[in-house]
Formats: sequence, C-alpha cells, structure tokens
Amino acid sequence: MARPKSSFVCQACGYASPKWLGRCPECGGWNTLAEEVDAPAREVRPPLSTKAASPVSLDAVAGTEAPRLATGIGEFDRVLGGGFVAGSVVLVAGDPGVGKSTLLLQVAGRMAAEGAVVLYVSGEESPGQIHLRARRLGVVGHEILLLAEINVEAILEHLEATRPALCVVDSIQTCYSSALSSAPGSVGQVREVAAHLIAAAKRLDIPLVVVGHVTKDGAVAGPRVLEHMVDAVLAFEGERASPYRILRGMKNRFGSTHEIGVFEMGGEGLLEVRNPSAAFLAQRPVDQPGSVVVAAMEGTRPLLLELQALVSPSSLAVPRRMATGLDQNRLVLLTAILEKRAGFAVHDQDVYLNVAGGVRVEEPAADLGVACAIISSFRNRPIPSEAVCLGEVGLTGEVRTVPHLEARCKEAAALGFKRAIVPPRSGASKPDLALEAVEVATLEEAFAYLFE
Ligand code: TYD
Ligand code: MG
Repeated sequence: MARPKSSFVCQACGYASPKWLGRCPECGGWNTLAEEVDAPAREVRPPLSTKAASPVSLDAVAGTEAPRLATGIGEFDRVLGGGFVAGSVVLVAGDPGVGKSTLLLQVAGRMAAEGAVVLYVSGEESPGQIHLRARRLGVVGHEILLLAEINVEAILEHLEATRPALCVVDSIQTCYSSALSSAPGSVGQVREVAAHLIAAAKRLDIPLVVVGHVTKDGAVAGPRVLEHMVDAVLAFEGERASPYRILRGMKNRFGSTHEIGVFEMGGEGLLEVRNPSAAFLAQRPVDQPGSVVVAAMEGTRPLLLELQALVSPSSLAVPRRMATGLDQNRLVLLTAILEKRAGFAVHDQDVYLNVAGGVRVEEPAADLGVACAIISSFRNRPIPSEAVCLGEVGLTGEVRTVPHLEARCKEAAALGFKRAIVPPRSGASKPDLALEAVEVATLEEAFAYLFE
C-alpha cells in the first residue's frame, strides 16, 4: 500500500513544511510542527446532502434518551452518567501506574460476566501479562478478546470483524496509523489514530474506551484537540501513597461532570468505596489541634473530608503557604483575612494545609473549615471532634451561606457528628438540619464559639 503523502504543519500558525523543522520559520515557535496526512485533492468530499437543513422548533424534535449500557460497577457508571452510550468514545486519562488498565480490565470482566463480548486492545502489555493480571483480579471468561496490536488500521479490521459490545484501546499513545511516518505518541499520530477510532465507533455504534497518558503537568499527552474530539473525558487520580483512587468526569456529552467515583486499590484490584465519607475519616486523629471536618459536595453527593493545618513560626523572610488538595491562592487569601479581619498575627508563620485522603476540594464552602483548622493549629487548641464546619468566608471576615446545607448536614449526622458550625440561615428558607446547628455570622463568632 502506497503511503499517503504527509507534511508537517505548525500547530500554532498553520505553516506547512515537507520536512520536520525544530522551529517554525513563520511564527518562530519551537517544536510546534506535527505530521499530518495530506488529503488527496481528488477526494474532495461531495456535499453530503443537496438539501440545506432548515430550522425546526425545539418542541418538534423527538428527543429520545440514549440507552445506557451499564457496566455493573456502580462508581464507574455514576461518573459515566448511567453507563456507556452506543457509539460514544470515552477517554480515561491518568498518571502511569494509577490503575487505568486495572480498572478497565475489571469493567471488561463485569460486562463479560453478563455475556457481553469485549475487545481489549493492548499496545502496552502482552496477552500473557494481561492474563496474569486478570487471574489476580478474578476476571475470567472467553467473552473477553485480547488483541496485542498497535496499528490502528489492523485494530479497525478486528473491530469490524468481531463487533464487540465494548472496545477498550490501551493506550492511544502506543497506537499508530500507517498513513504517517512519525512515531507513535506524537501529536500527529495521536490525532490521526483518534480520528480513525472515533469514526469507527460512530459507524459501528460500539462504545469505545481509550486510555490516555498524562504528562508531568497533568495534561493528556498529545494534542489538546483529543479532549475536544471524544465524547467524555474521565480523569483517574490518586496519590501514590494512598490506596484511594478517584474517577472524575472532566467532560461528558451525555451526563454531568460533577460526579466522582471512589475506589480503593488493594491486592485484588480496585474495590468500590460505597461510603467515601467514612473511608476518608477513618484515620482521623481525635482532639488534635489543626484537624477539622468539612462537608464538600461532589456532584449530588456530600463528602465529609478532614482538613489538616500546621502553623509554625517561619525562619523565612516570606513565610510559606502550602496547600495540598486545595487552591493555593485561596489559602493565601484566607490567611490574609485571618490577619486583617480576625486579628491573628500569622504573617510570620508558615502555614501548611492538607486535605486527607488525596482528595481535592474546589468549593468555597470549605473556607470556614480552612480558617478554623489554621487557628486551631496556631492557638494549639483542638476543635471538638463531633463538629463539622461549613461556610464560605468573605473578604470582610463574614461567613456566607453555602448551597445544599441540608444534604451536607444529613451526611454528617449519619456519620455520628453532633454539631455543625454553619452560616446564618435566613428566616423563610430556614432548613431543618439533622444536627445541632451553631450559626456564626463572622469568623470571630466562630472562633469565640470553638476556642473560648
Ligand atoms: P495499572 O492498572 O497497570 O496502571 P496504569 O494502567 O494506569 O498504568 O496499575 C498499576 C499499579 O496498580 C501497580 O503499581 C500495581 C497496582 N496494583 C495493585 O495494587 N493491585 C492489583 O490487584 C493490581 C492489578 C495492581
Ligand atoms: Mg496500563
């Protein structure tokens, strides 16, 4: 087969060159040229339809809910929005070793156990290695077809021939298309392979899962455009030292992106964590200064998390502010509010903050908890262990209301908490909380209640 002609195109300005160049002569960008297939001129597509589309009323469109193919792994289905949609392409991205292959082999195993045929294409491991892992995970069944292949044209032939209920490609960075001469994993190859796979999934109406590696700074290796091309992007995250793994929806054309799935990596693969709050609080130190529990919302589900702060005198001219699992700028802002509005001299103190369990909190609802943890450590006074703190903190030190207060308090009550430090609730919509609510309007009121 003659190789179609390709050229190198600058991803920044579109300049095309017949050979690879380190620097684009047009825009001067370094390392911006990537190989692309030149579409033969005679293959210019005829218009797909001779009749132009005409507008229709929204009400007149017959909207049918796409049927879902549930995997049977609840935490995975939740993030997908109920299961796979036929013809959709899902990118599962994560650091090497986080457990992507393990997760997908377990998904394949569950679906095969229900009688569905799954084609598992691996360019990273041999069928022998996958077999060993499958045995360890307790995954068996001849419904799982293993294919060790990295040529996308060959993969598509097998996909066409087997017509599985689900196809997994692990990983896109190892695959290549014969149309391009560049190495697998290069920008041009990743895009070309993705385009082929997506077109095939849509044509054959098969859900397809693509595994993608993540670079050091957290982006999916390869072109950004890959994230635009697929229907859903799920990030699989976790700290190396912690057994917990979190599957987070980053993009989902068929569902919400607020849901997370929580797993625990053990000797027999990933286990679903059905009650993440209890799991994340299991190792909480009792009556230790600097530790506080907050209730964050992850999608529709409240999640109780422990925040830990350590405040110690600094020997640096500019004291450290370090946050793990929380926005660094938010921490800097809250320490400034504590200094100016609540009168705590933390300007010469190092402040470290950590969310236990390797989880990320993105909500301002954790502000009051952060502030309380910092002052608890600063004054060396523990926060009562049966209390949770909820509230956003404004620049004047006022404690502001947070959404879903009832759901958060219910979760806390279910786990044995007795009291909640909450923002003032307005008269009309005063929700009935499941535990004793202590309303505080300002940081000072909160500290007076907790520490005096
Ligand atoms: P893997 O799925 O290969 O990661 P990825 O595909 O994302 O690169 O998982 C690798 C890690 O998971 C490896 O360090 C070992 C660990 N692991 C377990 O702890 N228990 C298990 O049952 C399995 C299969 C893997
Ligand atoms: Mg892998």
